Amino acid sequence: MKVFIEKNYDQLSKRAADMIAGEISKKPNSVLCLPTGSTPIGTYRELSGMYAAGKVDFSGIVTFNLDEYIGLRQDDENSYHYFMHHHLFDHINIKQGNAYIPDGLSENMEEACKNYDVKLDLYNEKDLLLTGIGQNGHIGFNEPDDRLFARTHTVLLSENTRAANARLFENADDVPKVAITMGIADIMHFKKMIIIANGTAKAAIIKDLLTGRMVDTHNTSSLTYLHNDVTVILDEEAASLL
Ligand code: PGA
Repeated sequence: MKVFIEKNYDQLSKRAADMIAGEISKKPNSVLCLPTGSTPIGTYRELSGMYAAGKVDFSGIVTFNLDEYIGLRQDDENSYHYFMHHHLFDHINIKQGNAYIPDGLSENMEEACKNYDVKLDLYNEKDLLLTGIGQNGHIGFNEPDDRLFARTHTVLLSENTRAANARLFENADDVPKVAITMGIADIMHFKKMIIIANGTAKAAIIKDLLTGRMVDTHNTSSLTYLHNDVTVILDEEAASLL
């Protein structure tokens, strides 16, 4: 694992955006995996700025999002569909049909999971995954458990995750209890992984990840020890327990 500790969130975001833009200029039809959450907002702002300045062209890329809440309409401000349009897709020239996000509104979630896997299987080469990390170590919504799903599945969110995300909802009870997420096998199939984390709330899990040296299904992020191209970008607060 390569680890970069940046002075602050803006520097972290800039480094992540530079790596993503570099990948796209090397391979304009890159297949990317993208996260939601507070952590990537700065990275998306940087990428949008680079596009506005004519420094990067997103017209050939394909993106897969990690996850989506079940039951929120796409125009709900807390849905990840809304998030991606608001923070990135509306500001760049990605082709509409090239941005895949799991379907949290299907009447048949089993079928929705299979459909996402079928879309993932269309692309043999998956190039770069960007992800945040939960305070419990989750990647996407792969919550701590004795066994982890390989592929797209529905998940009952942990109380820890619901509490961490409650800040974005009017009432804590409004945080959906269930979600759909890409599984760990598909996450690991991306050739490069970038994990970003900022703030003191992430310091303990980052310490666990970087000093634990164990693969533990109760800390999904530790599965990245099995991957050979992982870059972790932190701000000083997230790195404060190292
Ligand atoms: P955050 O979420 O970026 O909002 O901290 C990260 C995650 O839960 O994966």
